[in-house]
Amino acid sequence: MVTVELDKVDEIIDRYVGEEGILIQLLLDIQSELNWIPKEALERISERLKIPVSQIYRIASFYKAMSLTPRGRHIVNVCLGTACHVRGGPRIMDRAKQILGIDAGETTPDMKFTLERVNCLGCCALGPVVVVDRDYHGKITPAKVKEIIETCD
Ligand code: FES
Repeated sequence: MVTVELDKVDEIIDRYVGEEGILIQLLLDIQSELNWIPKEALERISERLKIPVSQIYRIASFYKAMSLTPRGRHIVNVCLGTACHVRGGPRIMDRAKQILGIDAGETTPDMKFTLERVNCLGCCALGPVVVVDRDYHGKITPAKVKEIIETCD
């Protein structure tokens, strides 16, 4: 169960009250503060700025930079493209799932990690590849996955 920090949402809305055409920037600020945009935040914006929720939802679901599902502070991408797959990608994914206690596509309850599968990161010769946030790690082993995850603060 994810707790939504509505006080932070309110602080961000306060910055924009009375201004025109600020919805996208406001949503980006919430995304940046919370790493995602909860339904409760959409409702709060709607209520305070008198904008229909459907309009806010349309914008939030259109932009790739905005997520309507919880995202952790760290995004762990495990490549399961063909080259990484044959080099042991599935074992890496299994180890990451086991360490984090979540499935691919999920976020840990403490909102620290989101685990995702990707299909080719364009550096197949380094496979299997894991990318944590923006750092690429090649020729990964299950033991190395643990090490990388443990060094995230
Ligand atoms: S298949 Fe993993 S980087 Fe290409």
